Amino acid sequence: MDEIRRGKGDCEWFIKVRFGLFIHWGLYSLPARHEWVRHREEIPNEVYDEKYFKRFNPDLYNPEEWAFIAKRAGMKYTVITTKHHEGFCLWDSKLTDYKATNTPCKRDLLREFVDAFRKHGFKIGFYYSLIDWHHPHFTIDKFHPLRNHPEKEKLNKERDMSKYREYLHGQIKELLTEYGKIDILWADFSYPGPDGKGRDDWDSENLVKMVRQLQPHILLNNRLDLEDEFDFITPEQVVPYQWPTKDGKKLIWESCQTFSGSWGYHRDETTWRDPEEIIKTLIDCVSKGGNLLLNVGPTARGEFDYRVRERLEKVGEWMFYHSDSIYNCTQAPEEFKVPENCKLTYNSEKNRLYVHIFSWPYKFLILEGKSYKERVEYAQLLNDRSEIKIGLDEWYKKQIGEKDGIVLVLPPIKPKTSVPVIEIFLK
Ligand code: GLC
Repeated sequence: MDEIRRGKGDCEWFIKVRFGLFIHWGLYSLPARHEWVRHREEIPNEVYDEKYFKRFNPDLYNPEEWAFIAKRAGMKYTVITTKHHEGFCLWDSKLTDYKATNTPCKRDLLREFVDAFRKHGFKIGFYYSLIDWHHPHFTIDKFHPLRNHPEKEKLNKERDMSKYREYLHGQIKELLTEYGKIDILWADFSYPGPDGKGRDDWDSENLVKMVRQLQPHILLNNRLDLEDEFDFITPEQVVPYQWPTKDGKKLIWESCQTFSGSWGYHRDETTWRDPEEIIKTLIDCVSKGGNLLLNVGPTARGEFDYRVRERLEKVGEWMFYHSDSIYNCTQAPEEFKVPENCKLTYNSEKNRLYVHIFSWPYKFLILEGKSYKERVEYAQLLNDRSEIKIGLDEWYKKQIGEKDGIVLVLPPIKPKTSVPVIEIFLK
């Protein structure tokens, strides 16, 4: 198998845990119609603040409860929006008044979050929005809520991006000095244009230097638009077709996804995926050497709503019996051909292969190829460790003819779980 590209941070834990919780939480949980609501509806600061900043008071917020739910779902790390594009800060930043401690809730929501999740063994990641629709010196660009303002040009002349840059660097410094060991810095938003805008606006190079100096082990994502200064890449709302590579090396990757479309709490969205689809997505990620960072947008009262709780509960039920095929696992060696309607994962330390059966065949599953014939020692269902007999049924022998391989003799009825897994002990 070709080599994995490792950045400067400590990625060893990251490629083992596989499943994380993304949190998008801010004032946008009050309008409850997407975290880009300010952009979509072109809402100026005064209106947004008058309506939402003044009313933000998540009275049911209990991060211990969140950590408990996430842990039961099988998640091992978390990334939270310390500040999203709207500019509002969940922590008690000394560099702005636009923060949770100045809303009616008067709490450093981030500190409580970090304490609770750390206590429950989670690795901690901070999402930080590089763009800022509230800061008076952030340039009004094509995404800004004031982009159609008749006096946009004039307003921009009064803005000084270098002041915003200073603010951004200062805030990241605060986040990386006042909350203990931080495992991930998840910067967003990246301007993909060739003109270097974004990267230059934030002075990404010096920003990264500071970050690495403050927390040398930290993992950085790839949204600072620097060619080589990142630890992992972040495909959004998709699972790559195959393990992504760069210059012949496999990249460390994490797919971030929502249950539905919006990252922030969205009351009326009706396109929520089923738990089974989420489980399959997680398996798909691990089968290609990646992680899944699954997002929750808590409500304005500070809760995971019923749709989240129902789904995470079900994901957790599956993980309770099957996490051996997820944690410490990765893509299976190429010598093992992927059987029909299945996904494979592999644990190199245990020397085991995991066959995830997405569509249950009747009685037999063929594992085709010499490697299966030569290397399979024993097989069992992961959920109850009942033996799966390895045989070559006469009827099947005729079907596959001279082909190499083995046949697994399955129970005729699919085990009572969304995705059954067969654990194979290799020689
Ligand atoms: C996008 C969106 C944003 C979300 C992020 C998560 O960049 O702007 O709302 O936070 O993706 O990956």
